[in-house]
Amino acid sequence: MGDQPFNDTFLRACRGEPTPYVPVWYMRQAGRYQPEYLNIREKYSFFEMNQIPEVCAEVTRLPVEQLSVDAAILFADIMTPLKPIGIDVEIESGTGPVIANPIRSPKDVEQLRPFHPEEHVPYILEAVGMLREQLSVPLIGFAGAPFTLASYMIEGGPSKNYHKTKAFMYTEHDGWQALMQKLGNVTIAYLKAQVSAGAHAVKVFDSWVGALNADDYRIYIAPVMEYIFDTLRETGVPTIYFGVGAGHLLDEWNRLPVDVLGLDWRTSIRAARKRGITKSLQGNLDPSLLLAPWDMIEERAKQILDEGMEHPGYIFNLGHGIFPDVKVETMQKLTHFVHEYSANKSIG
Ligand code: CP3
Repeated sequence: MGDQPFNDTFLRACRGEPTPYVPVWYMRQAGRYQPEYLNIREKYSFFEMNQIPEVCAEVTRLPVEQLSVDAAILFADIMTPLKPIGIDVEIESGTGPVIANPIRSPKDVEQLRPFHPEEHVPYILEAVGMLREQLSVPLIGFAGAPFTLASYMIEGGPSKNYHKTKAFMYTEHDGWQALMQKLGNVTIAYLKAQVSAGAHAVKVFDSWVGALNADDYRIYIAPVMEYIFDTLRETGVPTIYFGVGAGHLLDEWNRLPVDVLGLDWRTSIRAARKRGITKSLQGNLDPSLLLAPWDMIEERAKQILDEGMEHPGYIFNLGHGIFPDVKVETMQKLTHFVHEYSANKSIG
């Protein structure tokens, strides 16, 4: 792979530059829909896969080789930095992250330790360095955003309504500020280290922040997100921000010093543009469609591409992650379609 010319289409689109075709990659492109992943996962726990750089690099490369996507995303989890700061987290297959010692008081926040990536997760940085050598497409590094990390840390696992998290946020003013500050520093330290090790772009996942309304987002979250993206500017690499069900926060997001906004399937690309969103956009095929008949997938993908291609700075993706029942062939066909359709359309 190392001999192929470097494909920078994704990075150009992140920067809002025109591209010869629309670059594509998928959230959760490495995962349980791939038989090869399942074979490796049989031998290791999730975090063990993370901790062996050769395995981490192999799983990261798998979708690039199998699907011909235009970017790789590091195989890790938003939970990866939490163990070293004192959170006892495991990934349970089919459930997600489960935490044995959830945060229940400001005192618990005080006890969180600072995160030093080179010391705490050297194996991740080693995998990034290996991938930098091996890949001929950009490598996306990533981290969780403070609200989304806090939601797991306070609830103790996945949640539907985030009652405990919001109650902490509304009740413990100083404790919440301290938590956001600490997690903001975790995110910054982790992403800076990934860039130093070789990542070409970074993505901040704020998957569950759509649970807040725009006023609360502005009060409780926007300051720490501004601090994160402002600080990441120093790295010089493109930054991406993503959340699920967060269309009502787009105006707030558009004010952040971030390059690319990731949309889920509820907000169309055209609707976002109509609202005055000027940044590069990424998204947003409903992942459930991946189980629909091919004609329907193609029709929806075409519609999304038509909308996305109205402005430079567009990256095709799903509205959220691929799930285990999806077929590898469907993802191959979709990638091929995005490349072909967008290349012909821009020429024609
Ligand atoms: O290919 C990739 O996308 C790269 C790796 C990646 C994983 N998690 C691997 C993973 C990335 C970018 C993430 C981010 C992540 N993790 C997010 C943000 C993105 C999103 O989906 O909203 C969140 C909220 C998490 C927390 C988390 N970890 C969840 C919700 C789950 C899935 C639960 C399930 O079983 O479906 C995990 C586990 C996880 N992270 C898996 C993978 C491949 C499945 C692990 C397994 O093999 O059991």
